[in-house]
Amino acid sequence: MSKKVILITGASSGMGYAATKLFAERGWEVFAGARRVAKIPQAPNVHALALDVTDSAANQAFVTAAIETAGRIDVLLNNAGYGEYGPLEEVSLANVRKQLDTNLLGAAELAQLVLPTMRAQRSGRIINNSSVGGDLYAPLGGWYHVAKHGLNVWSDVLDTEIRQFGLHSVVIEPGGTESSWSEIAMQNVTKNLHEDSPYRPLVDGTMKMMNRVTNAASSATSLDLAKVFYRAATDRQPKRRYYYSWSDRMMAHFARTHAGTFHRMMMLVSKHLV
Ligand SMILES: NC(=O)c1ccc[n+]([C@@H]2O[C@H](COP(=O)([O-])OP(=O)(O)OC[C@H]3O[C@@H](n4cnc5c(N)ncnc54)[C@H](OP(=O)(O)O)[C@@H]3O)[C@@H](O)[C@H]2O)c1
Repeated sequence: MSKKVILITGASSGMGYAATKLFAERGWEVFAGARRVAKIPQAPNVHALALDVTDSAANQAFVTAAIETAGRIDVLLNNAGYGEYGPLEEVSLANVRKQLDTNLLGAAELAQLVLPTMRAQRSGRIINNSSVGGDLYAPLGGWYHVAKHGLNVWSDVLDTEIRQFGLHSVVIEPGGTESSWSEIAMQNVTKNLHEDSPYRPLVDGTMKMMNRVTNAASSATSLDLAKVFYRAATDRQPKRRYYYSWSDRMMAHFARTHAGTFHRMMMLVSKHLV
């Protein structure tokens, strides 16, 4: 049988980098995209391609390259993403658009591009790397949470529409994971903060907390998450949601099922941070 084919976005760092290596090692043909194409793992089964998921022409070229080279697409792993952190009063709408274009609309456009091929095959999966932040939320992460909550709903609706063709759309919800993510999110808070901002104490407190969370021994590695992606790609009956740890699953569940209590907890957290 020919090799299974996966398209992975955000393959130059963190979870996408680890997933590119893992799927290639396990015999998959990997079409791996990122803006920093030189940082994508180099391996015999890996096609490293320049990709900015906010650029429609680049998304089209990425999918066309896979179809023309491999002739099929088994999995699209929508992984590219970052945190446009900052207080909602101060993040510019230009940066909001960039956040939604990258974390939500890029994924949606790539899905539109791969679905005709998957429907013709009558098999295929779209794996969306969301976050526990797609169920819960915290101060300064507003637009990131909007994008990830949106991605979750979008994936669920898509799943109801494509199952008739034998296709699935699933969501992975990582919790804190070692990668460049938190450093970039914290750089963005600083970038988005106005001079003499009244949110400065909240930002300083959040940064201290993020450092503690990022350095916590319980953080997952990017390889841990790559293994979760692999399960989502290969489970005979894929689940609607995948978590790395029991605590990530419980946090997300709690935020969904105890929304009022969760909100009161977040009010206490913000009070504590300032
Ligand atoms: N790390 C965590 O704690 C955590 C927790 C929950 C969810 N997540 C999610 O996991 C996913 C992977 O993040 P990570 O933790 O592995 O972070 P990372 O190390 O910063 O990697 C992010 C990847 O996304 C790519 N990317 C960003 N903007 C892009 C764009 N416009 N077009 C194409 N690629 C783009 C980056 O590549 P280039 O810059 O080279 O384009 C990079 O390869 C993200 O969706 C993130 O929101 C992370």
